[in-house]
This record gives sequence, structure tokens and C-alpha cells, in this order.
Amino acid sequence: MLKVRKVDPLNPDNSIIKEASDYIKNGYLVAFPTETVYGLGADTFNGEACLKIFKAKGRPPDNPLIVHISDMNELDRVAIDIPEIVFPVIRKAWPGPLTLILPKSPDVPKEVTGGRNTVAVRSPAHPVALALIKSSRTPIAAPSANKSGRPSPTLAEHIIEDYANDNVEMILLDAGPTFFGVESTIVDVTRNPPVLLRPGPFTIEELRSLFNTEIVVPEFARGLGEADVALAPGMKYKHYAPRTQLIVVECEKYDSLIKLLRDVALNYLNKKLKVALLITKETASELMKYPEINELPIIIMGYRENPYTIAASLFDSLRSLDRLNVDLGIAEGIEERGIGLAVMNRLRKASGFSIVKCKM
Ligand code: TXA
Ligand code: MG
Repeated sequence: MLKVRKVDPLNPDNSIIKEASDYIKNGYLVAFPTETVYGLGADTFNGEACLKIFKAKGRPPDNPLIVHISDMNELDRVAIDIPEIVFPVIRKAWPGPLTLILPKSPDVPKEVTGGRNTVAVRSPAHPVALALIKSSRTPIAAPSANKSGRPSPTLAEHIIEDYANDNVEMILLDAGPTFFGVESTIVDVTRNPPVLLRPGPFTIEELRSLFNTEIVVPEFARGLGEADVALAPGMKYKHYAPRTQLIVVECEKYDSLIKLLRDVALNYLNKKLKVALLITKETASELMKYPEINELPIIIMGYRENPYTIAASLFDSLRSLDRLNVDLGIAEGIEERGIGLAVMNRLRKASGFSIVKCKM
């Protein structure tokens, strides 16, 4: 049974937090908001409870969870042999959307880490998440709360959509939209120099200055090509995908992007396919000048001039695409700068790497 409890995102009601933390203590699941996306959590030290997460999501058991702590002093409950480089970083970055891969403490059950000897840890910057962890008196292991393969939930409604018909004992803390809309940045600090496993709200530019070293950015972190499974276990699975086929259109020059978006749309319209566009507000105004295009269903993904607005609406846009009953979605690519890298990583994966690029 899915129980939904509305909470104030900034000042959550103690009695609701208590009810949810009792669920955690008793080995049940709680879906809770973080500053990135909603997580589906259980008591980290209860392996059986953590298995329920995998079962509810349909998640492969070798794709490990992220452990959420409310205070950096709790780090040594879940990780050991913490490299010195980590302490100044977490003093500045936590609570916040930065997940670190560290050597695991023997107390963390193998279910959480997919049998690995490392553990992913972060401290989330959301008052509801922090209150829940504190009240549960245990680190909370949680992946994103979507069903495996679906876009991550940025609204409580997305979780209801995925789980309403399931028979799973769970409380959902509905605190409205999450703040960033894309999942945390993941950095593997067991390697030297550290390796970016997943781009997120902490940008590469910020990481380089936080760590004060070079950061390795593999191709797969940009959403190009397959990940080395040994390095990034979760990245081999198809992610974030809408059910509808998606194509991403990418160009360096904006004029060329508008033209290519129009050409790609016309190409599929001529094949008698039903097409929808996932584009920014600015691009919608440009494309509306073309009569063949201005009848098409459009999903607005924020403002091109502010990529944070695109990140915040990205996963909801991918879910909206499935409600339009079209054959194909065509998405606008954006610049890989700042949080734009995280957006492009998600979009490219969501398309199953169906990318159309401008000729250079
Ligand atoms: O913002 C977020 O990170 C959200 C919120 C709920 O915190 N969580 C999230 O978890 O998005 P999710 O569904 O992406 O799953 C955890 C990710 C997977 O990609 C997994 O492969 C990676 O963390 N991960 C976990 N443990 C790891 C490890 N030991 N080594 C490498 N990657 C690991
Ligand atoms: Mg996920």
C-alpha cells in the first residue's frame, strides 16, 4: 500500500517525519524528496529492507544504491580508509548534490553495494531528507524512486504513476518539485586523480576547484558510449527512457540547430509519423515561424539561456512525451557547459544514443 503524506519542503511536520522514520526503523520503504530527485529509501544496515528497494523498482541486484547521511560525522559509519582529499571537499560541498565513491565499511551489507568493496555516499541538501535521516537514526540507502529504466521522479506524482498499482508497503513524502531535477554528481575518489562517473548539479568547473586537482571525465560521463562496468556499474543499463522513441538534435551553431530541428521533423512528418518536439522556450518561438511545424505538439523544456530551468523540467518532459501518444519525440540539444553536461548525458541516454548532429 502506497501512503501519501504531504509535507512542507522547508519545514516538515514532525509527526509525519516520525511516521516515516518508523517505517524505516521497521524495515519498510519511504520515498522522500532530495534536492536532486526523489529517492526510495530503506535502513542502510538492514540488508533485507534494502532488497525490497530492488524488488519494488525492478532494479538489477548488481546496480548499487547511494547511502544518504545527515551529517559528515556519520561518514565513518559507512566508509573506511577515507582519502585525505575528501575532508576539505565535503566540508564545502555537503549537504549537497555530490556523491563520493569510497572504500566500504564492513558494516554496510552487500545488498547496498551490489557486492562491491566500495560504497556511494552523499548528504542531501533537502530539509525533508535530512529530517528523515536524523529521525530514523540510521543512514538511508536509496536510489532514485522511479521504476528501473523510467525517468527519475522530480514530482511525487511521478512516483504515484510508477507504484500506485503495486502491492508494496511504502510512505511517500510529497514535498512538491525537487530543486535541481537531475541526479547528484558522482565522483570516484578511490582513484587518483578522481574520476567523474556521472555529471550532475556540481559542474566539472566546480569540481576542479573543490578538489583542487584534475578530474578525469570519461566519454560515458558525457552520455557518449558505454561505460566500463567495473568502474560504473549502473551506467550499462538503459536509463531515463521514455517509452516513446526519442531523437536528440545537436549543433554548435544556434541557426543551424533551428534548421536541423525543422528538417528532422519534416523528414518524419513526410513518413506519416506523429512527431512531438521537446524544445526550449526560445527555440519554440523560432520554430513557430514555420507553418509546417507550428501545428506540432510541443513540450517546453525551460529556457535555453538558463540551463538550470532545463534540468528542472527534463524528467517531467520525458514523462509528458509518453502521454502525447506520438510515434517520436525530437529533443533539442544544449551546450555541454555547467549543468548542461548533466542534461546532455541524460538526454543522450534517454534516446538510446539516437543523435542527429550538424555537419561540421
Ligand atoms: O541525486 C541522486 O543521486 C539520487 C538521490 C535520491 O540521492 N539518487 C540516485 O540514485 O539517482 P541512482 O538511481 O542513480 O542510483 C545510484 C547510482 C547508480 O548509478 C550506481 O551505479 C552508482 O550510484 N553507484 C552506487 N554505488 C556505487 C559504487 N560503489 N561504485 C560506482 N557507482 C556506484
Ligand atoms: Mg536512478
